[in-house]
Amino acid sequence: MPVISHAPDTGIWLLSTPRTSYALRIDATGAPCHIAWGPRLTLEEAAELAVPAGPDASSFEGRSPVGEELPVDGGARFGPPSLQVRFADGTRAFEWQPVGHDVREPAPGAAELSLRFRDRVHPLEVTLRYRVHDDSDVIERHTVLRNAGDRSITVLRADSAAWSLPPLPDYRLSHVTGQWSAESQLRRDRLPYGETLLTSRRGITSHHANPWVMLDAGDATETHGRVWSAALAWSGSWRITAQRTPDGRAGFTGGAGHDGTSVPLAPGEEFTTPGFAAVCTDGGFGAASRAWHAHTLAHVLPHPWETAPVLYNSWEATGFDVDEQGQRALAARAAALGVELYVVDDGWFGARRDDRAGLGDWAPAADRFPSGLAPLSDEVHRLGMRFGLWVEPEMVNPDSDLYREHPDWVLHVPDRTRTELRNQLVLNFARQDVADWAYDWLTRLVAKNGVDFLKWDMNRAFSEAGWPGRDDGADRLWTRYVHNLYGVIDRLRADHPQLRIESCSGGGGRVDLGILSRTDQAWPSDNTDAADRVAIQHGYGQVYPARTMAAWVTDVPNQLTHRTVPLRFRFHVAMAGLLGIGGDLTRWSEEELAEGAELVAGYKRVRHLVQHGALHRLRGPGDEGPTVVEYAAHDGSEALVLAWQRVQRHGGPRGPVRLGGLTPGARYRDTRTGTVHHATVLDGYGLSLDLPPGDWASSAVHLVRLAERDGA
Ligand code: DGJ
Repeated sequence: MPVISHAPDTGIWLLSTPRTSYALRIDATGAPCHIAWGPRLTLEEAAELAVPAGPDASSFEGRSPVGEELPVDGGARFGPPSLQVRFADGTRAFEWQPVGHDVREPAPGAAELSLRFRDRVHPLEVTLRYRVHDDSDVIERHTVLRNAGDRSITVLRADSAAWSLPPLPDYRLSHVTGQWSAESQLRRDRLPYGETLLTSRRGITSHHANPWVMLDAGDATETHGRVWSAALAWSGSWRITAQRTPDGRAGFTGGAGHDGTSVPLAPGEEFTTPGFAAVCTDGGFGAASRAWHAHTLAHVLPHPWETAPVLYNSWEATGFDVDEQGQRALAARAAALGVELYVVDDGWFGARRDDRAGLGDWAPAADRFPSGLAPLSDEVHRLGMRFGLWVEPEMVNPDSDLYREHPDWVLHVPDRTRTELRNQLVLNFARQDVADWAYDWLTRLVAKNGVDFLKWDMNRAFSEAGWPGRDDGADRLWTRYVHNLYGVIDRLRADHPQLRIESCSGGGGRVDLGILSRTDQAWPSDNTDAADRVAIQHGYGQVYPARTMAAWVTDVPNQLTHRTVPLRFRFHVAMAGLLGIGGDLTRWSEEELAEGAELVAGYKRVRHLVQHGALHRLRGPGDEGPTVVEYAAHDGSEALVLAWQRVQRHGGPRGPVRLGGLTPGARYRDTRTGTVHHATVLDGYGLSLDLPPGDWASSAVHLVRLAERDGA
């Protein structure tokens, strides 16, 4: 049972996880204030850190923008407010008045603290929630607002949480940036003084930034140093603000919505923010990532311990040119290769022959599937594979029956241009009738065709985000859209417990802990070039586990980069996640099919390590020489080392790589060569990679711990 304890004399609350403590208390003004977050403490030790604020430096300072559990708008506060409201009389500001607290056990092994407040003047209730688990150092937080009055309140900003760091000599911020087909590019930069804003204003999580941050003192490495990190569980627009004050403090706040959007709160209405979880880890960025991976498996994903099947996806092979005969031919070859899940991508429905028409008309195209999808689904099942389908339920082409019938169903602003991106408009999922329509056809589609897997795509950002006919629609839609999206997925899952879902948004536009709590995997990028993918996977894996990271082997020259990469290298890169195949198998030579089948079989022998082991990044894509990752079994019984070297430089580093996660003193056999290695050597001195000569060198080394008697 994780511990939440309280000292009534000092007012301190102490939340303890297996390796860390988090301390806070309510100050003399009634505001919840941060005390400490780091290695474990007792209540008595935490009290030593609860130093009262010194005398005001000057009449210009006000309260520090770092150090409150949720900085509000009001009083002498001049930082970015995490809670900003406008009451019906037009006044703003919030003054904390504590009204109670409770501690409960929401699930075995978990404890939750709720601190309840209200505004001293207006009937607005605010609850801060903290949850800790006995198997994770991640602390989950969110905030609940309730309008307890009889007049509307406008919530201009409602962050989920604010997190404060201890004073450090320097601060560095790690995060990812990107764009379509170049998502998850890891950045590590000195945190500037002032406010650094990371955000999505697109209505989706976005390709351009992802809602997580890591902060360290600037000296953490992959294996050493303390790192504080946080991730937001939200799939719409969001904002994270990292702050660094001139007096040497830093912290970050995060929540749903971007600047300029607000949430109306009608009388009696409640608004629950998404979760903004955080963890403090020792052991560098590697340990921080492993903490997130373990937490995501233990507390986020719906089916974390299932073995993800090897998937085939038709998109790069056929584009929109999808028909029953062609899919049967691909399915037969995929099955022979060892594929376990066959997914028909875009192009199977309505008048969808390119991206200009048909989106929204979700009936199988009669000319290409004369008897519907069931015969193909039956054939795929007969071949021993599961059957998957691509869908994009939130979108419509103006050239579609759906749009002709319901032009009012899209996000739009009267009299303004409806901006098309990829020739499509966004259906207003905030409308209950639209969400119900989507749920209705989806649940029938799944039931009727034996669908085991949906690739749920979303291919454009919001524009003209209006909801005509509802006075508060343009404000409400940002959050209600996401809640209704979640609701449709939840209802589908309840109807079809066997259904598994992949989150896709033109690649990695919707990857976050919110969508991952109701899907099974994500498509990190439309860029399937193995060389580019190494960097994308590196950024993706900083927070999200390999168990969620779909990765396909596609054809060369790559459609996007026109680069030609050997098949083996492409496989070795994709094997670092959920291996899939996306090439046109009807054009693969017998040699390629044979090599592919061998590599698929090889992946199946090690995928339990990739999908459920602990990731150790042994050499990053920025280092000279090969990029190397290791997946180690949690009990140290096995490890997989994947290495990719794009270019060999004569005289470049060839040194061994030191492994992690092995059993001290044990010996390990390389399953391919039979060579036996000592853990002491692998851990302390390193494994020689023995990569083949030349460019595009890659290898997969599977090490299995010897039983005592084997080693005798
Ligand atoms: C974008 C996805 O990321 C691709 O994989 C593919 O499904 C296309 N959409 C289909 O339109």
